[in-house]
Amino acid sequence: MTTEVLLSISGLHKAFGGLIAVNQMQFDVHAGEIVGLLGPNGSGKTTVMNLISGALQANEGKVVISGKDITNLPAHKISHSGIARTFQLVRVLPDLDCIENIEAGLAYRTKPLWGDAAHAAALELLDRIGLAKQAHTPAGDLTYIDQKRLELGRALALQPKLLLLDEWLAGLNPSELQDGIALVRQLKDEGLTIIMVEHVMDAIRSLCDRCVVMNAGTKIADGTPDEVLSDPEVIRAYLGDSHA
Ligand SMILES: Nc1ncnc2c1ncn2[C@@H]1O[C@H](COP(=O)(O)OP(=O)(O)OP(=O)(O)O)[C@@H](O)[C@H]1O
Ligand SMILES: [Mg+2]
Repeated sequence: MTTEVLLSISGLHKAFGGLIAVNQMQFDVHAGEIVGLLGPNGSGKTTVMNLISGALQANEGKVVISGKDITNLPAHKISHSGIARTFQLVRVLPDLDCIENIEAGLAYRTKPLWGDAAHAAALELLDRIGLAKQAHTPAGDLTYIDQKRLELGRALALQPKLLLLDEWLAGLNPSELQDGIALVRQLKDEGLTIIMVEHVMDAIRSLCDRCVVMNAGTKIADGTPDEVLSDPEVIRAYLGDSHA
């Protein structure tokens, strides 16, 4: 692949006391790619996302975006360098309506939007994520998938180059899942680069250009979805020794 490397992670290490959650992780993400970050429960996926987004500090290693070293910068500086995220457990502001939730994101842009400009931009974003009709609904009254859409909208309000989705498709019913997959594909078509932590195999196969697989903090595979999902070491990591 000849496209530009957008994000590069090298030698990334994070320990919690005696537990090594992330061990010498390294991978590149090219502009325009969707990279799946896979691995069994507790393998360190969310911790990698937290290290990239600045929610946690790395003990060692480097995170570089567009050639700029952002390792261990405060989260707001990392967000201004073009990285936005959603959380494994949805976080919206339940008492505020959808417009206000998006406006809260717009206020965190490098060049914040306020007032009428923010209102107009929020409406446009709500339309883009399929929530135009719920503009005045309090976030706490939305269905689960709509709360997820809203959280995604708030991340998009930051105009990221790189979007980090942590199990954004988890917990959806089959028809919601198809809608969710279509929305992620639309973002890719708009040029966004995405790292998605995901367990839903249909979503991984239909969306990911490449997958990085972790086990016990370490990268064990990096390749196309077909390559990694048929890799004996990956199968062993997910199912245990008896299945490989
Ligand atoms: N803040 C923390 N303090 C202590 N240990 C932590 C902390 N965050 C994560 N861990 C531990 O680090 C390891 C990796 O956790 P992490 O949440 O990154 O896994 P994960 O791959 O996202 O798992 P899941 O698929 O269940 O979401 C786990 O053993 C977890 O208990
Ligand atoms: Mg996780």
